[in-house]
Amino acid sequence: MESQCGRGKFIVIDGIDGAGKSLQTRLLQERLESRYAISCLPTREPGGSPLGEKIRSLLLQEDVTADGTEDVTADGTGVDAITEALLFNAARRDHLHRVIAPALDKGLWVLCDRFAFSSFAYQGAGGASLDLLKSLHRIALSDIGLAAGLSSDLASSLEPDLGIVLDLSPELAMQRFASKRGEAYVKPDNFERRDSQFFSKVRAIFLQQARSEPNIWSVIDASETVELVADRIEQQVVSSFSLELHHSAAPPEVLQEVPLSPIVRTASPPANERER
Ligand code: TYD
Repeated sequence: MESQCGRGKFIVIDGIDGAGKSLQTRLLQERLESRYAISCLPTREPGGSPLGEKIRSLLLQEDVTADGTEDVTADGTGVDAITEALLFNAARRDHLHRVIAPALDKGLWVLCDRFAFSSFAYQGAGGASLDLLKSLHRIALSDIGLAAGLSSDLASSLEPDLGIVLDLSPELAMQRFASKRGEAYVKPDNFERRDSQFFSKVRAIFLQQARSEPNIWSVIDASETVELVADRIEQQVVSSFSLELHHSAAPPEVLQEVPLSPIVRTASPPANERER
């Protein structure tokens, strides 16, 4: 792997449960490393750091909402959306502080399965206002680079360089879950148990947020095959960062065998044209 100088890139893959984020994050890592000789750090939210993982298991466990007391939350989920947002943001700050910022500082490309858009979408769908969620995000980010002992240059740029929303209808997501559960019993977590109306709201907020930041975010149709979705993500990353195949990468014919489709963008300007 080539040594990398300067700050690494921060790429986020987000979307509703079942859209295939974790698999696509892994495939993107494989392709960036083998075809473009880029060292990556794959990570995820909630989680990614020891404290983040603890908060993750607290938030996802089923009995967090089933203590026998009356459910007084607006959305009937047992945990108030703002309480959730505070916990997700605490996990995010720790993750940024301990993992993401130091990795970017070393020149690694951070590939993050979910980030702040998930809070906007899920806790927004749960009833928290976007203004409030964005304020919490700003608080979670404040002085983070400095807290991690990094240069002020890096400290001021801890938002994603590129974000991809994998878009899928809640109906298709539910079908995917059902067939996964047919293979082996997988207990739904505290979020997966919510209904399709909730996931429709989550999806709508993801799309709306992606459209509001077209220089950073792209929307890719996740109902396609795994390979095609991986191609489209790769194509987006290549165009955003003007990547070239590494000389020792897989021979070009391997790439040419795969039909590459046009990228589904929410708007035209590629990310590499915007100011960083
Ligand atoms: P995820 O890692 O996608 O779960 P899994 O690995 O089981 O597929 O995320 C767990 C859940 O957390 C998911 O339903 C979305 C939710 N979530 C939020 O509600 N807000 C957030 O800020 C984040 C990061 C996740």
